[in-house]
Amino acid sequence: MSELDSGIADCLRSWNHFSGSRLQIQAADLGWNLKAQKLVNYEARKLAGIPVLVATASAEGLAAGLSAHSLWLSLWGELQKTGEFIDELYQLARASQKKRLVFGADEFHFLPGIPTNIPKGRELIRHLREHQWTLGEVFDLVGRAGSQAALRYIDEGEELAKDRGWTVAALPVASAEVAEPPTWAAPPTLSGEFELDELDRFLHQEFPGRWHREFNFWRGRHDTACARWLGLWIKRKLAGFVRIAHRGDPEVQSDRRSRWIPGALRLPLAAGNLTGEGGAPPDDRAFNDGCLGPIGVAKALRGCGAGRVLLAGALSRLNNLGVDHVCIDWTDNESFYKHLGFERVRTYRTAFLSTLKSTL
Ligand SMILES: CC(C)(COP(=O)(O)OP(=O)(O)OC[C@H]1O[C@@H](n2cnc3c(N)ncnc32)[C@H](O)[C@@H]1OP(=O)(O)O)[C@@H](O)C(=O)NCCC(=O)NCCS
Repeated sequence: MSELDSGIADCLRSWNHFSGSRLQIQAADLGWNLKAQKLVNYEARKLAGIPVLVATASAEGLAAGLSAHSLWLSLWGELQKTGEFIDELYQLARASQKKRLVFGADEFHFLPGIPTNIPKGRELIRHLREHQWTLGEVFDLVGRAGSQAALRYIDEGEELAKDRGWTVAALPVASAEVAEPPTWAAPPTLSGEFELDELDRFLHQEFPGRWHREFNFWRGRHDTACARWLGLWIKRKLAGFVRIAHRGDPEVQSDRRSRWIPGALRLPLAAGNLTGEGGAPPDDRAFNDGCLGPIGVAKALRGCGAGRVLLAGALSRLNNLGVDHVCIDWTDNESFYKHLGFERVRTYRTAFLSTLKSTL
């Protein structure tokens, strides 16, 4: 086992210990997803004896616009000695010549922040606040694509789109890049295609930064058959986008080319057990779970229902794909999703220090 693999395993033991049975992450899934990307280097460390994952921009990440000064890190549990932990973090940052420190907010949300349920998590947050860190709060939401609330939302969204003549359409699966097309069928509701380049331009203009980078990263991969992007068209113009992904048929999952499941890492594992904790986690391969996000609407068109229509279109497709649980991970915009009947399953504090001073 490599040092990174054993570090990942240590971190996951903490995560899984504090998450209850419904939010277990498998080491193989996380390891595969961490290593399959090229923008960020992840490294396993120990700070004050606690296993952490640390991320810095790779050469490719720097070229794509990631900060050269940032050090992102995970904290997944077991915190005991807050002061010592922070001291060692500052030492690590200085040694690697980084001055921006971030809990959470890494490029791929593998390091989601400080979970609020870990021992001494609040003490750490208090400490960070006293030392001029900027704090934020994000959530993972989970629900069912086929719940009454979701189905009602889908109906209303489709009605609205029909009234206004708006269209939600899926990007073609990048089948030319996939040596063998996946065995599962494309969703039956696809109503059209649009060019990848158009979405590229849209994201460049409306969401430059992480979402634009993520799209291009996705586009260049050969193993993303379970993720797809939808666009909303208003008067032949792209007005918004949303990405959905699902685990798919268990047989397809054994094909590693199809395992890019952004967000889905943190899905609940026990179908029908959304509120249950404890007990042995079932084999997640048995469930066709999915995730939704990011989602965004052109700035000029916000506030007039485009987001609702996109969200309804995404849920409808997940439902048609036979997806059971849906995870909306790492969002700070709970009110946008409030009509879906989803449940907040985890809260994280993000923390950010813009300049590490040499006196600290
Ligand atoms: C969030 C976003 C997609 C909503 O799109 P939109 O077209 O403006 O939303 P709609 O007009 O369809 O509004 C849908 C509902 O969400 C609410 N809503 C919209 N934007 C919101 C926001 N920024 N914060 C809170 N609620 C919001 C609306 O009040 C409305 O609620 P209602 O149905 O109870 O009236 C859009 O504002 C956006 O692109 N924001 C930047 C990216 C982002 O935050 N994405 C979501 C988190 S991943």
